[in-house]
Amino acid sequence: MRLFPCRFPGLRPFLLSVIVVFTFASKILHLFQHRRNVRSPSFLLYLPTFFLTDFLVSIFAWLALSKLPGSWGIAGLAIVAFVGAVDIGAVSSQFGFFYVTGAEVRWNAASTLASDKAGFNLLLSGLMPVFAFGTLLFTLSWILAPLITFILDSWLNAVGNAFAGLSFRSRQYLPLTNEPKEPRRRKYLALSITLIALFIILGIDIYRPQVPYDHISGTVPFTLAAAFQNQNATCLSDQQPFPLSDLVAPNLWEPENGRYKGWKPGSQSSAADLATVMAPSWAPESWPAGFGRWARKGQNSTQEDALLAMSDAVCPGGNSRYNIYNPTLDPMRITNLDLDVLAPVQEALKDHAVPIKHVFLIEMESARKDIFPLKAGSHLYQQIIDAHESASEEDLYELNSRLAAMTPVAEQITGESGNFNLKSDELRNNLTADSWKDPSAPGMGGINVIGALTGSSLSFKSLVGSHCGVGPIPVDFMFETEAEVYQPCIMHILKLFNQLKNEGQKEATDMRSQRWKSVFLQSVTGEFDNQVQLSLQIGFEESIFKENISTASAKHWHKGMKEINYFGYEEPEIYPYLKDTIEDAKANGERLFLTHFTSTTHHPWGLPAGVEVEDYWPRNGFASEHQPMNKYLNSVRYVDEWLGNVLELIEETGIANETLIVFVGDHGQAFEEDHHVTGTFENGHISNFRVPIVFRHPQLPRLDVHANATSISILPTILDLLITTNSLNDIDRDVASDIIQEYEGQSLLRPYKNSHNGRQAWNMGIINTGGTMLSVASAAAPYRLVLPLTRDFTFVFSDLSKDPYEIDLVEDWDFYSLVHTVKRKHGHDAAHWLKDAEKVARWWVNERKRLWNYHEG
Ligand SMILES: *[C@@H]1O[C@H](CO)[C@@H](O)[C@H](O)[C@H]1NC(C)=O
Ligand SMILES: *[C@@H]1O[C@H](CO)[C@@H](O)[C@H](O)[C@H]1NC(C)=O
Ligand SMILES: *[C@@H]1O[C@H](CO)[C@@H](O)[C@H](O)[C@H]1NC(C)=O
Ligand SMILES: *[C@@H]1O[C@H](CO)[C@@H](O)[C@H](O)[C@H]1NC(C)=O
Ligand SMILES: *[C@@H]1O[C@H](CO)[C@@H](O)[C@H](O)[C@H]1NC(C)=O
Ligand SMILES: *[C@@H]1O[C@H](CO)[C@@H](O)[C@H](O)[C@H]1NC(C)=O
Repeated sequence: MRLFPCRFPGLRPFLLSVIVVFTFASKILHLFQHRRNVRSPSFLLYLPTFFLTDFLVSIFAWLALSKLPGSWGIAGLAIVAFVGAVDIGAVSSQFGFFYVTGAEVRWNAASTLASDKAGFNLLLSGLMPVFAFGTLLFTLSWILAPLITFILDSWLNAVGNAFAGLSFRSRQYLPLTNEPKEPRRRKYLALSITLIALFIILGIDIYRPQVPYDHISGTVPFTLAAAFQNQNATCLSDQQPFPLSDLVAPNLWEPENGRYKGWKPGSQSSAADLATVMAPSWAPESWPAGFGRWARKGQNSTQEDALLAMSDAVCPGGNSRYNIYNPTLDPMRITNLDLDVLAPVQEALKDHAVPIKHVFLIEMESARKDIFPLKAGSHLYQQIIDAHESASEEDLYELNSRLAAMTPVAEQITGESGNFNLKSDELRNNLTADSWKDPSAPGMGGINVIGALTGSSLSFKSLVGSHCGVGPIPVDFMFETEAEVYQPCIMHILKLFNQLKNEGQKEATDMRSQRWKSVFLQSVTGEFDNQVQLSLQIGFEESIFKENISTASAKHWHKGMKEINYFGYEEPEIYPYLKDTIEDAKANGERLFLTHFTSTTHHPWGLPAGVEVEDYWPRNGFASEHQPMNKYLNSVRYVDEWLGNVLELIEETGIANETLIVFVGDHGQAFEEDHHVTGTFENGHISNFRVPIVFRHPQLPRLDVHANATSISILPTILDLLITTNSLNDIDRDVASDIIQEYEGQSLLRPYKNSHNGRQAWNMGIINTGGTMLSVASAAAPYRLVLPLTRDFTFVFSDLSKDPYEIDLVEDWDFYSLVHTVKRKHGHDAAHWLKDAEKVARWWVNERKRLWNYHEG
């Protein structure tokens, strides 16, 4: 019997096999990934329905390959070949991605990545496993081709014949009658079983809840196609009512008081909203970029015109207007500016001047709080020690001393000792002999924040939050690059200060009369996610990336510059530019706002040749076990030393005593040691969120501030420090004291309010890539919710007071069922918090879209 009585005899069974093997392999992996978050009885009940589409796809392929006559057959062959090719690419990527990160691929995210050069390189960096899995499945298809063809042929021909026999019993010239005649009974048996199975499966399929099973049963290539469909834009114009209405009732409203603008959420319709934003007394003649909130209003003679002009620009054809942020109408805003500056800071200021001439912001790539610094006895430290279960006492001591040498600079920046129990101080000194030594007087060094979370686990969203004091927008990727930020960023404010100064004061000797300059520096590419544009958008006057220093015409270009990962050069390549920037500012009598983004701690944690790689984790078992984390820790040690070099440069150039240095982690990083999904991509695990925040100044006393704040507090704290230390002239101080009242974040220079009149200080964290899940926490409670923003993810709850490393999560596809479980396991308070958290978070998501004037296209 010829299975495929056509041209290309070997090709057809093989193609059929490719479709079947890749489709089913993809589904099995997909189900495996969801094994944790579906209850087993439902899983077993619905199991057959998960494969329905896969069978239909297989049958379609079989029909197209074997049942189409003449040139239709060629067309069928072409279509199946095309689908097969798509499947091979997609399913291999799915397996490769799972192998590397433990997560599911999302195709629209992948397509956005692939469209930019650095993103494409990032994808390429994971190509080996993709290729390996592709080859494996390809080989499997080859081997299984005869078997699969035989099974499908026997089954479908039997069904087909029986079907044909039923409907055309009298006719004898059917195409299918060439097939070998089967005994009647067997023929009808195949048809009956197939039909009965189909009806049962369809029945269960209809009965089955949509969430999560529609997602779980998604089949390539349909999942792929769905990713490329555009979703409709939402044009939100009015603020939604705050869900916890008791907390914003008029009896709780607060009147204006001095600089404080009052708090009356829900008091005006938002049309009047714009009118309430009076031009401030310090309004310049023309507004610099970043002040759209006030500038747009002043442009046209009447309010009405302005509103109309704006609505067209934002929502073509829509009737929405240009939305702005108004602190008096923000139901979530809690200010702590009414409280006094922390007492030790006040004391210090009485005692001596604390000039802040320059502000540096060191945004540290993937800096987890538990490595800034690494501490003996910490969870991570204990994990490392436990992994060396068979090591001798002596080896453990040796390991301990190597761990002690990992983050000595971070220990000094934060003032948190690593507490490594070493035999002598002399050994400790030997271990850290080459590293930076803090020259500030004992007890001095600045504010170290303990308990901070990042505002987003996507680097550039986090960057926008820390530089602009805003919540980034919970949509995929960097809409922020195209949109106007809804608050002025720190660079915009400094530019306004410049504009308010007379041109003639350029030669001023008092720093308060000098002009600011803002510079951004990093040794890696600016092409990823269009960072060059983002840098302009948030107000940097000058930005230096890999692209600027890699050309032979660059000032410090030299032979042998080596790229250490797919993003760019090792950190020290930026050093001479950093030095020049400081020297130039000194020479020109300028004040510097400088951001440096570190990069070596980014995946794949490549180190420059010649840097020694330590084995912090044991090398046993699987060759790759613990290796990603080990590479990360090596890059952490390398960056610790680099930060020491930066601090040294700041001292050598003589500006240390008048420079505020803010250190902040852009986000954390989850490893297999933390969670079964690794990395930040669509991973809500807490290890991606805990970050260090430090405000270092050698003339400020050392303070540990315990606050469950986010990086949204950085901008108000910088302003507060500039005002409080008397580092601004009268006009600028007036502006700063007024504008600081416009921001959402609390100042970390004052006691942090965990709640106010029953309202909690919520901490929202947008999860990489932005539009799929949100981390919801609050300073007023130890609980945490990971809220899915699409139907593809579960709700996740944790109680950090009992389970600080989120080892035992409560997970559910259905929110009410989650609340139920949480009530049973964690009590009434937790369940109550959870219900509030979900409502507030959904409100916050819509409000961000409104404030960012989000629209598509
Ligand atoms: C998207 O918007 C268009 C026109 O506004 C509408 O016809 C279409 O039904 C919408 N699609 C969805 C999925 O909402
Ligand atoms: C004022 O509004 C009109 C539309 O009413 C618009 O064309 C014009 O550009 C606006 N003026 C400014 C300065 O933006
Ligand atoms: C510290 O280094 C010095 C010089 O290299 C060496 O003589 C001394 O033994 C070392 N001390 C310890 C405790 O390792
Ligand atoms: C660095 O390069 C980017 C484009 O890659 C450019 O926009 C920027 O102006 C350059 N910076 C300097 C200081 O030349
Ligand atoms: C900074 O100030 C301290 C004392 O306040 C002083 O000892 C030190 O030399 C100063 N450093 C620089 C670089 O001026
Ligand atoms: C911050 O959150 C953690 C975890 O919930 C908690 O242990 C800690 O006490 C909180 N800190 C403050 C100052 O509320």
